[in-house]
Amino acid sequence: MKGQITLTMIKPFAVKQHNVGQILSDIEKAGFHIRALKMTQLPAEKAEIFYAEHRERSFFPQLIEFMSSGPVVVAMLQKDNAVADFRQLIGSTDPSEAAEGTIRRKYAKDKTRNAIHGSDSDDSAVRESRFFFSSMEEFVY
Ligand code: PPS
Repeated sequence: MKGQITLTMIKPFAVKQHNVGQILSDIEKAGFHIRALKMTQLPAEKAEIFYAEHRERSFFPQLIEFMSSGPVVVAMLQKDNAVADFRQLIGSTDPSEAAEGTIRRKYAKDKTRNAIHGSDSDDSAVRESRFFFSSMEEFVY
């Protein structure tokens, strides 16, 4: 399974803008199989654990405040070369640098309200999937 999965979160601003349906549609059209899916809200303490590797970055408090500010839609996705292909689909962290047609170019506002998360490695994808989903919440259909 490692190498074939990635974890995404549609971030609070994109959820509030009612962009969930369009973003999930873009993801499925790009060939990703939705293996698990939920809407939840992260308490700040949980967001701090999820983003622990960025604890020393200057934007960390802003990131945690934003990611715990409203509901997120989380999905575990399956596809060959999932991590790299998904990061290409979502585009650069800064939406002003994201390529035309990417999810961040279409739905993001700025570096904080950048619409969507994608795992940065196969190891992160496994860790992040286990953070949100049990094996009973995963489906291949
Ligand atoms: S990445 O994906 O790890 O290479 O991106 P990176 O630039 O290292 O950023 C790590 C995560 O922090 C988010 N980020 C920010 N959040 C709030 N404010 C600012 N200024 C900011 N800059 C970066 C970035 O979106 C990454 O989170 P995710 O959830 O992976 O998108």
